[in-house]
Amino acid sequence: MAPSTVSDPPWAHSAAEALTPLIKSTYTSSAINFYLNGRKTSLTNPNPHWTLLDYIRAQPSLKGTKLGCGEGGCGACTVVLQVPKAWARKRRVKHLAINACLFPLVGVDGKHVITIEGIGNVDRPHPLQERIAKLHGSQCGFCTPGIVMSLYALIRNSYNPETAKFHLREQDIELEGHLDGNLCRCTGYKPILQAAKTFVTEDLQGQLAEDSPSSSDSKLEKEITGLVRNVCGGASKVSCRRPGGCCRDAPSDNSSNGGISLASTPPTEPTSSDDDHVPANLDVKNSPEQDLSISGATYAKPIKSKEYKYGATDIKTSTALEAPVARSQKGIPQIQFQAYIPDTELIFPSALWKYEPQPLCYGNDKKIWFRPTTLDHLIELKGAYPSAKLVGGATEVQVEVRFKNSDFTVSVYVSDIPELIETKLPSDTKLESRKELVVAANTPLTELEEICKIVSSKLSKPPMVLEALRKQLRYFAGRQIRNVASLAGNIVTASPISDASPVLLASGTTLVAKSQEKGEFNLPMSEFFVAYRTTSLSPDSVLTQIRIPLPAPGIRETLKAYKQAKRKDDDVAIVTAAFRVTLDSVGIVQDVCLVYGGMAPTTKEASKARIALVGRRWFSSETLDIGLTSLSEEFDISFSVPGGMAHYRKTLTLSLFFRFWHESAAELELGEVDGQVIDEIHRSISTGARDDYNPFEQRVVGKQIPHLSALKQCTGEAEYIEDMPKMDRELYGGLVLSSKAHAKLISIDWTPALGMPGVVGYIDKDSIPKELNVWGSIKKDEPFFADGKVLHHGQVIGMVYAETALQAQVATKAVKVEYEDLPAILAIDDAIEANSFYQHGKHLKKGMGIDDKMDEAFAQCDRTLEGTTRIGGQEHFYLETNAALVIPSGEDGAMEVWSSTQNNMETQEFVSQVTGVPSNRINARVKRMGGGFGGKESRSVPFACYLAIVAKKEKRPVRLMLNRDEDMLLSGQRHPIQARWKVGVSQEGKLIALEADIYDNAGFSQDMSGAVMDRCITHVDNCYETPNVYIRGHVCRTNIHSNTAFRGFGAPQGMYFAETIMYNIAESLGMDVDKLRLKNMYKPGNWTPFFQKIDHDWHVPLLLEQLRRSSDYDKRKAAVADFNANNRWRKRGICLIPTKFGLSFATALHLNQAGAYIKIYHDGSVLLHHGGTEMGQGLYTKMCQITAQELGVPVDSIYTQDSQTYQVANASPTAASSGSDLNGMAVKNACDQLNERLAPYREKLGKDTPLREIAHAAYLDRVNLAANGFWKMPRVGYKWGDTNWDTVKPMYYYWTQGAGATEVEVDLLTGNHTVLRTDLMMVSA
Ligand SMILES: Cc1cc2nc3c(=O)[nH]c(=O)nc-3n(C[C@H](O)[C@H](O)[C@H](O)COP(=O)(O)OP(=O)(O)OC[C@H]3O[C@@H](n4cnc5c(N)ncnc54)[C@H](O)[C@@H]3O)c2cc1C
Ligand code: FES
Ligand code: FES
Repeated sequence: MAPSTVSDPPWAHSAAEALTPLIKSTYTSSAINFYLNGRKTSLTNPNPHWTLLDYIRAQPSLKGTKLGCGEGGCGACTVVLQVPKAWARKRRVKHLAINACLFPLVGVDGKHVITIEGIGNVDRPHPLQERIAKLHGSQCGFCTPGIVMSLYALIRNSYNPETAKFHLREQDIELEGHLDGNLCRCTGYKPILQAAKTFVTEDLQGQLAEDSPSSSDSKLEKEITGLVRNVCGGASKVSCRRPGGCCRDAPSDNSSNGGISLASTPPTEPTSSDDDHVPANLDVKNSPEQDLSISGATYAKPIKSKEYKYGATDIKTSTALEAPVARSQKGIPQIQFQAYIPDTELIFPSALWKYEPQPLCYGNDKKIWFRPTTLDHLIELKGAYPSAKLVGGATEVQVEVRFKNSDFTVSVYVSDIPELIETKLPSDTKLESRKELVVAANTPLTELEEICKIVSSKLSKPPMVLEALRKQLRYFAGRQIRNVASLAGNIVTASPISDASPVLLASGTTLVAKSQEKGEFNLPMSEFFVAYRTTSLSPDSVLTQIRIPLPAPGIRETLKAYKQAKRKDDDVAIVTAAFRVTLDSVGIVQDVCLVYGGMAPTTKEASKARIALVGRRWFSSETLDIGLTSLSEEFDISFSVPGGMAHYRKTLTLSLFFRFWHESAAELELGEVDGQVIDEIHRSISTGARDDYNPFEQRVVGKQIPHLSALKQCTGEAEYIEDMPKMDRELYGGLVLSSKAHAKLISIDWTPALGMPGVVGYIDKDSIPKELNVWGSIKKDEPFFADGKVLHHGQVIGMVYAETALQAQVATKAVKVEYEDLPAILAIDDAIEANSFYQHGKHLKKGMGIDDKMDEAFAQCDRTLEGTTRIGGQEHFYLETNAALVIPSGEDGAMEVWSSTQNNMETQEFVSQVTGVPSNRINARVKRMGGGFGGKESRSVPFACYLAIVAKKEKRPVRLMLNRDEDMLLSGQRHPIQARWKVGVSQEGKLIALEADIYDNAGFSQDMSGAVMDRCITHVDNCYETPNVYIRGHVCRTNIHSNTAFRGFGAPQGMYFAETIMYNIAESLGMDVDKLRLKNMYKPGNWTPFFQKIDHDWHVPLLLEQLRRSSDYDKRKAAVADFNANNRWRKRGICLIPTKFGLSFATALHLNQAGAYIKIYHDGSVLLHHGGTEMGQGLYTKMCQITAQELGVPVDSIYTQDSQTYQVANASPTAASSGSDLNGMAVKNACDQLNERLAPYREKLGKDTPLREIAHAAYLDRVNLAANGFWKMPRVGYKWGDTNWDTVKPMYYYWTQGAGATEVEVDLLTGNHTVLRTDLMMVSA
C-alpha cells in the first residue's frame, strides 16, 4: 500500500483515523531496500503477511532455503544477515544467522541478506559446501542449507579483515552454540562437525589470531563450554582424528594438514566495491587437485591409491572404472579440499554503508507494517494507536501469528531504532563504580551475552548477575533466535518459563518504559508480572531500557541461575530458576530472593521462603531444611497442572535450591560443602572415530563415496516437492482437521471458506463414492475423510483449495464444524480395560508353549519373575513434512503424481481408486524425500489422493505441503508398546520359559500396526535362546493418530523388552548381567521362537567379544562402579548389548520383490530406474555403484532421475531395511541381461573398450539395450503357526548383527543426563 492511498484505510477505521496523519507526515516511504546475495533489491509495498522466508521462497531461483517447522525450532530456513557491527571502531560487519521463517520482511531494510545460493553452487561450491558434501555431512539434505548457513556465519565472523587473522577453535564450533538452532534428523552431527572443524584456526597455517586462547579461563566459561569436565575426549590432548589432521597430531606423524590442501595464499586486503551488484565471487585460484570428486562428473578420473587398511599394502590401481577413494593415513580417509580464501567472500555492499534508513510503512486492508527509525517516532505512533503490536526479533510474535492465529492489524518493527538496540558500555574507568548495567531494551541476546562477558572480564569481581544471565542465555533457544531476540520481547511476553525473567527478578532489576502520556517511567520487575502472560505495562508504552543492578564492591552476595529442560540446548525450560542471597558479615541472611519459572502462571518469587529464611544463619542444615520445607509448601502444584510433570517439577524446585545452597556456601566461603552437589553435567568437545574396515568392499560397490546428491543438497540446488516450479494455474490445498479425539460430526459448514479471497473449492467425503472413501496398507479400514464421526484429534474432515497456500490455510479456519463429544480411548491401558482391540491373533509358540504347557515349563524353573515394561512413542520429525503435487495431463485422465513418499505403488493404487483412472495412467513419482524413516511408507498416501480428487475435478495442478503441526497430528508415530511378561530361569541363570502379552497402540486405524507387532514379537528374543515360549501380540484400537512404521518397525521395542527382562533376572539372581547374556546367547543350531534356525552366519558372540575388548569394557565397567561408589549425586551406567535384526518384509511375502529398468544409450550413458526411493539413505548412490560395477562403467555415466511407476511397476515400498538388497539385486539382474547381450561385442572389440563403442556397435546390430531386472528374495516364506521343523521357512532372509557399548551419566538432583561414549560394531548386509 502506498502511503498516499490510505486516506480511507479499510483495515480498521480507528487505526486509519489515528495513523493517517503520521503516515502522511513521517512514513512516506513504502519501499524496502536491501541487498540479496550481492544484488540490490527494492520491494515496494510487499505482501505484509510475508516473513523473510515467504519472500525468499517466492523467488523461483531461491528454493534452497527450506521451511521445516516455521517456528524457529529446526534451522532449515537459516539465512545470514550481513550488517554493520555496532561499536566497532572501524567499519566492521557481522554475520548473523537468522531464522527466515520468523524474521519479518521489513527487518531486512538496509541489510544484506545472504542465502545458500549466494555462497556457491554445484559448479563453484563454497569450501564449506564442498567439505560437508565430501565428508558425508548430508543425507536427505533438507537440513543442509540451514546448517551450511549457520556455519558460514561462524566462519565469516571468525575472520578479522583488518588483521587478516582467524579466531576459530574447536570449542567455538561445538560448544558455543553456533549450531544449536539446527536440527538434522538423518546424518548425525559428527560428519557435520568434522566438516566444520576443517576450518579451525590451527589448520589455517599461520593465520591464527594472537589472542586465540587455547582454553577458557573463567569457571563460568569452562562450565558453559563444558571444559570444566573432560570426559572421554573433550579438550583432550589426543588427536581428534579429523580428516586433514588435527592440531594435536605429533608433527612426526605427518597427519596434520596431511590431507587438506590449504594452498594458503596470504589474504589480501578486503576488497570493496561501489557497484550495486556485488558478485558472489568464488574465484578460488589455488584450488588443489581433487582426488575425491563429489559432482559425479569426474568419477571416471583414474584413482591414485587404494585405501590403506590394517597393514595391507597400498594397492595401486589404474582402472578408470573404480570409484575414487580418498587417500588415507592410518585408515582415516584424507580428503582434498579447495582452499578457503576469505577475501573471495561476498562483501558488505558499499552502498549500504551510506544507507540512511527512512521511516517505512506498507500494507493492505488486512495488515499494515511500520518501521520507525527513532524512539520519538515510535512513542508518537504508540500514542496515536496504542494497540499497535511492537515487533522486536519476532521470535514470539511470529509464532503467535502462525500457530496461535493472532492477527495483528498494525505491526511496528522496533529493532532498527538505535535507542532500543544499542547498549552503550561505560568506559573502563567508570565500570568499577557502576551500580547498574543499563541495557537497551531490544539489544539482541547474542550481543547481550557478549556485553555480559566483556563487563565481567573488566571488573575485578565479575558480577554474579551478569554471569547468571550469560549462563541462561547460552542455553536460551538457538543461535538464530538469540541473534535477533531481545530481553524486552522476553519480558513483555511474560512467559512463565522465561529464562531471563528469574535472573532479572532475583537481581532487583528495574524496567524503564516510555509513553507519550507519562514520558519516561520506571517499573520494578517485582511488580511487572500480573497474571499469565499479562504485565503491568500499559498498551501505549514502550520498554526502553533494562537497568540491572550490579552489587556494591565488598557485599557478601551471590546470585545463580539454573535451568532444567528435556535437553540442554535449544529447549524450553521445565523449571528455570534464579536465586540471590545476601549475608551480613557473620553469615546471617539479610536478604534472599528465590525466583522460579515453570512453577506458576507467572515467573514467581517464593515470598514465603524469603520470610522464613531472612535473619537465619545461611550455612546451617536447619536453614537448608527450612528453605526446602517452605518451598515444598509454596509450590505444591497439583497433578493436573498445565504442562504436566507435577512431581518432577516439584522435585526440581527443591533440587535446584539444594544445589544453590551448596554453591553459595562454597562461593561465599562459609565452610565445607559437598562439591559434587554443585557440579552440573556439561558436554565437552565430542570426538569420534571409525575403523573404516570393510571386508565387503568391491571394485565400486562398498566404496565410501559421497552421496551423489550431496553437493546439490549443500548448495540448495536439490529439489524437493515444494521446490518444484509453480505450475500454470496451480492450486494449493489446506486441510480441515478435527479438533476432537472422538466425536459425532453434527454439521460441517464450509460455505464461509468458499467466500474467502482466492478460494476455489472444497472436497470431503461426498466428493467420492462412499465405498471408495477407504484406504489402508494392509487392512483397508481408514477413511480418507471423516464420515459421520471423527476418530482422532487431527483427522482429516475435508480440504479447501485456493490460488495460494496462504489463502488455503486461512480459509480452512473458516470452515465451521459442530461436534458432539464421545468418550475417547487414548492409551494402551485404557484400551485393555475397554477390550478395544483390532483383530490380530498372531502368537509365537516354542517348546512346551506349542502344547500350551507353559505352566509345566515354569514349574521347572528355580525362579520366576513377572513384570510390565512400557516404552513410549516418538515423533517422526523428518525435516521435510509431507508434500505432494498432482498434475493432470489433460488427456485420458492421466496424472503425474509427485509425492514425498516411500511408497509409489500404494500412492498409484489409491490415486487410481479415488479418481477411477486405471493405474496405467497414474505416474506416481518421487525424486527425493527430506527424510522418511518409515513415516512416509503409508501415511503419505492420502495427501496425494486428496490432491488427485481436486486435480480431476478442476483439471488444474494442485499442491500441498503440511505445516509441522499438521504433520505431527497426521503422520503417526513410533508405536508405544507395553509388554506384560513372565520369565522363568534356573538358579544358574539359564532361560527356561518366557510368556508375554505384548500390546501396541495402533491408533484409530490399523495402518501397519499388526505388522509392527509381528516384528516386535519376533525380536523379543533379541539374541537369547529360550526353550519354552508363548508370546501373544495384541493391537489396541484407540482414538489417537494412526501409528505407523518407524525405524526398526517394532523390533527396537521388542529388544528393549528382552534386555529389561535380562536386567530383572540378573538383579534377582545377583548375577552379572553380561554373564547372563553370554550364558543365554544363541549358538548355531538354536531355533528362534518363530522356528528360524540360527545358522553358521551368526557373528553376534564374536562381535560382542571384539567390542568388549576394543571398548575396554571391563576396565570401564569397574571404573563406573568406582565412580558410583564415590559419587552421591551423579551416577554412571555402562552396558554392552547385542542385537540381531531380521531382514525382509517378514510374512508379507509378496513385498519381497523388486524391479529395475536399465537403458544403455548408444553414447554409452546409462539411465537407471529401480523401485527404491531416496530419502537420504543413499539408495540412489548405491544403485549407481552396483550398475557401474556390473556394467564396467564409471559411476558418473549412470543417471537416476527419480523413481516412478511408469518405469518400474508394482515396486514395494522402500522399507524393512531391504531397499538395497531387493533393488540392488534387481539392478544386478538387469545388468546381467545387458552384459549377456553385450558379451559378443566385448569379445570382439576388447573388454577394455569403452561402453560407448560397445553400445554403439550393438545398437547397429539391432540389439535391445534396455533390460528389465527383477529379483525375489529366496528362502523366506514363514507362515504363522507353522511349527513343523522340516517344512517351516525362514521369516527373515538374514540378520543384521551388532553390538553396542554405551556409557551414560545422570545427575540425580535434576535428571539431567548425557551419553559419555558409545562404541558400535555391526555386520550388515
Ligand atoms: C524456537 C524458540 C525457542 C525459544 N526458546 C526460549 C528459551 O529457551 N527461553 C526463553 O525464555 N524463551 C524462549 N523463546 C521465546 C522467545 O524467543 C523469547 O521470549 C524472546 O526473547 C522474545 O524476543 P523478541 O525480541 O523476539 O520478541 P518479539 O517476538 O518481537 O516480541 C515479544 C513481545 O514483546 C513485545 N515487545 C518487544 N519489544 C518491546 C518493547 N521494546 N517494548 C514493549 N514491548 C515489546 C512485543 O510486542 C511482543 O508482545 C523461544 C522462542 C522460540 C521461537
Ligand atoms: S526454524 Fe525456520 S523452518 Fe524451522
Ligand atoms: S540430512 Fe539432515 S535432516 Fe536429513
